[in-house]
Amino acid sequence: MRFLLGKNYEQMSRKAANLISAQVILKPDSVIGLATGSTPLGLYETLISWYMKGDISFSKCRTVNLDEYVGLDPKNEQSYAYFMNKNLFKFIDIKPENTHLPNGLNLDNDAECKRYDELIKSLGGVDIQLLGIGNNGHIGFNEPSDEFKAGTNCVKLTESTIKANSRFFESIDDVPKFAYTMGIRSIIQAKYIVLVASGKNKAKILEEALFGPVTPQNPASILQMVENLAVCGDEEAFSVIKEKHKDIIFE
Ligand code: F6R
Repeated sequence: MRFLLGKNYEQMSRKAANLISAQVILKPDSVIGLATGSTPLGLYETLISWYMKGDISFSKCRTVNLDEYVGLDPKNEQSYAYFMNKNLFKFIDIKPENTHLPNGLNLDNDAECKRYDELIKSLGGVDIQLLGIGNNGHIGFNEPSDEFKAGTNCVKLTESTIKANSRFFESIDDVPKFAYTMGIRSIIQAKYIVLVASGKNKAKILEEALFGPVTPQNPASILQMVENLAVCGDEEAFSVIKEKHKDIIFE
């Protein structure tokens, strides 16, 4: 496990963007696992600026997103398909047909989960997976529970996640109650994982996930089992780890 420390959000984003860009330069047809949420926005902006400068091309890349709300049309501004287009895809040279998300409009949960797992398999698995961490330790929408769910699954969102995500909706009642998410197995089978975390409110859960017991009650704790993991954080996100684990070397 590597710890990449940025003095602030911008620097953390740049360090994480470097890892993604190195992957794409070394393997132009990489399969990139992407995340939504606030934390990757700086990283996406950085990748866009490098693309615009001509330093990097995504023309051969394939992407698979972690998750999508059930019931939302890709044209809905709150859908993750819309988010990805608005914040990354429309600015770079990725081919739209090479970008994939779970289909929120497929209400046949079993069929959609199976389709997404088969799609990831048909692409040869994920080369580099970007992850954020929820305030409760969720990764993708794998919420704390009694078991780690292996494959893509349909999740009932917890109250805490609905509350956290309500900032993007007009009212908390508009937040969908279910989401499709890539499962823990697909996530940890990625050849490389980049976890990004920013801000004080992530400091405690990040320390618990990376140094506490491995338990489905803290889904991100499964990342302790992964060798090829880079945790990119800013000073605030790493504050508890820094305080409790003086031996950790930050790059
Ligand atoms: C989003 C996702 C979520 C977020 C997490 C953190 O695709 O998979 O697990 O990464 O909720 O979100 P932010 O970055 O907004 O704190």
